[in-house]
Amino acid sequence: MTSPLRFDDTTYQSATTTVDGVAVTYRYFTGLTYVAQPVDDIQKLNVFVPEAYFNGQHVNGYNRVSAPIFMPNTVGGYMPGPRDYPRNSQPFSRGETILKALKQGYVVVSAGVRGRTQTNFQGEYIGKAPAFIVDMKAAVRYVKFNAGRLPGDPDKIITNGTSAGGATSALMGASGNADFFDTPLLALGAAPATDDVFAVSAYCPIHNLEHADAAYEWEFSGIYQWHRQKIRVVNNRRICTPVHGKLTPAERRLSPILKADFSGYLNELHLTDDIGRPLTLTPEGNGSFKDVIIAQLRQSAQEALTAGVDVTKYAGVTVVAGQVTDLNWDRYLRSITRMKGVPAFDTLDLSSPEADLFGSRLVAAKHFTPFAQDHTAVTSQLADADLVAAIDPLTYLLKPQSHIAQHWRIRHGAADRDTSFAIPMILATKLKNNGKDVDFTFPWATPHSGDYDLPELFSWIDNLCQ
Ligand code: DHB
Repeated sequence: MTSPLRFDDTTYQSATTTVDGVAVTYRYFTGLTYVAQPVDDIQKLNVFVPEAYFNGQHVNGYNRVSAPIFMPNTVGGYMPGPRDYPRNSQPFSRGETILKALKQGYVVVSAGVRGRTQTNFQGEYIGKAPAFIVDMKAAVRYVKFNAGRLPGDPDKIITNGTSAGGATSALMGASGNADFFDTPLLALGAAPATDDVFAVSAYCPIHNLEHADAAYEWEFSGIYQWHRQKIRVVNNRRICTPVHGKLTPAERRLSPILKADFSGYLNELHLTDDIGRPLTLTPEGNGSFKDVIIAQLRQSAQEALTAGVDVTKYAGVTVVAGQVTDLNWDRYLRSITRMKGVPAFDTLDLSSPEADLFGSRLVAAKHFTPFAQDHTAVTSQLADADLVAAIDPLTYLLKPQSHIAQHWRIRHGAADRDTSFAIPMILATKLKNNGKDVDFTFPWATPHSGDYDLPELFSWIDNLCQ
């Protein structure tokens, strides 16, 4: 009997679309179940392949066996991330990314993965952590299991995502073949294959959740006003309404306590800069680690200035004779503004997406930091520490237990306040310190978003794969 997970290249449809003025013809294979015992209909994937590969032709120097396999996810807010396709009108869709990747000659695999709000027919939660990453791993195992049948090079898988999807991508890169996920993968009937990947593209990854609250106060402590967008989806359109508020007296009391925790954590990471000097923080939160973040933000401002952008739109940026001579941390942060309350992620009323992520089959939400559990405003449980660690990419960088991707491209906008600048900086630095190839910047004036520089992302991929 052939395996139900065997890719069948004879059942497909074709389409031709104009992408940036060029006609792109591709075959697509949709709704392929990537596990033998799915628990939800979302556990299916779509495969897109440049038509040229079925006629013995090349695209951008690639052919049917050598093309990179690009795996963008649609995860946002740790919600369910359905499989995607070009011209998908859902607000989460990255259909344009798929088309542009096809034009570049990549095979694209878009897998649907479970998210925190999903329930089964009995009303039990089926998408709490670690479901999102288990599903993504199962999808990669399906691709690798089908090596030689499914077009593309399974040794050149590149994951891609934004925000919670960026965290998903980063976790894929960090946790390849980690034991923790074997049992749930087995239960789903995942294909017998490995799940490590070649390269990671991560935009503003909302990860390292356990330390994100302390990092947020390290950055924003002393700023009491917050500004964010309330997002509603009406007729497939995202409607954003600005909301503003002030930290309560209780939040103001907690902020410095969280901030004080951050330096200890950061120093224990033993990060170093490119020439081996320690990156550290004083108990007050100053020091070389902060200095490298400021230097990198300044460099980003300089590049934007050189490209003709008015970088003084943000307070704290000093320009003298065509040079960004200073970026004043406090003034700059007041200019981009605080977005979240205290704690920013493990909110004391369990209302955050992250607390919801750490719920379980029968429990809607749990705290995931001892700090929030100690200060909780509601009856609550603390999530299993092993689970919290297992979905944090840093865990795998601190103690060898997985196959880690060699190549990383991390972007976090210089105007992003969804998590502290420290969080992607820690990830990028630890990866570099572990000998990985890392391309990390804070693109100027860029808010919490992704896929905004696809030509550059694709040339990064081509440099690795061509
Ligand atoms: C996302 C954004 C957040 O601010 C957050 O806390 C979690 C997820 C997101 O956009 O995916």
